[in-house]
Amino acid sequence: MIGIFDSGSGGLSVAREIVKILPREKYVFFADNAHCPYGEKSKEYIEDRARAITDFLIGKGAGIVVVACNTATAAAIATLRKEYAPMKFIGMEPAVKPAALGTKTGVIGVLATAGTLKGSKYLTTKSSVDSGIKIVEHVGKGFVELVERGVLEGPEAEETVRASLSPLLEAGADTIVLGCTHYPFLINPIRKIAGEGVSIVDPAPAVARHLRNVMDEEGLIKNDGAPCGGPDIELVSSGDPESLQRIFSLIYL
Ligand code: DGL
Repeated sequence: MIGIFDSGSGGLSVAREIVKILPREKYVFFADNAHCPYGEKSKEYIEDRARAITDFLIGKGAGIVVVACNTATAAAIATLRKEYAPMKFIGMEPAVKPAALGTKTGVIGVLATAGTLKGSKYLTTKSSVDSGIKIVEHVGKGFVELVERGVLEGPEAEETVRASLSPLLEAGADTIVLGCTHYPFLINPIRKIAGEGVSIVDPAPAVARHLRNVMDEEGLIKNDGAPCGGPDIELVSSGDPESLQRIFSLIYL
């Protein structure tokens, strides 16, 4: 069984890509929405949540855990790997490198939470990018809250997205990295405001491929999920189950 967790429903944008390439596995998806958002919380707080959720997922039978949250990856994955060895943890990668390869203007924009942008993983990746590339960043202010409320388009979503995306576009970014797993659910307003010439990079497909490679190497692919129909996925929330169910239905119904 594959355990996947996020601070809320956003991690379903990663689960969706994983299920596409590993459709016959069993999944438990844990949304920690009673404690969402993680974006501004301390490292210690997120580590504690990550431990509690990992214990729960292992109790459910997880053989591998996907941290489908950039903020929790930045704050806690190193601790999880150390404390739960030899359990494998797959985290989110800030997709700055592929963005740097694709930009024509030489400017890439990164939208992420405050926690992700100050994390050492992001800072290291950023410093490895060619110095000729300019990287501009902005917190997607209010994005997580919109997704949790199921407001994925319309005037309120557009206004919220515009406030954080405009500074990146004004700086000349032609490539925008979505550095938070909630943000792909706002793809419609993001595309509308960014316009046609701007590429949007979502790291989820690459994370899914990495998971499959690791599972292959470790002999963890079981194919023991439901043989047909939708994904064999149990949804668990620490808070109101409605927001998770709402996003799940959008993806799979
Ligand atoms: N989906 C999260 C991330 O990828 C959550 C953000 C939050 O809870 O603030 O960073």
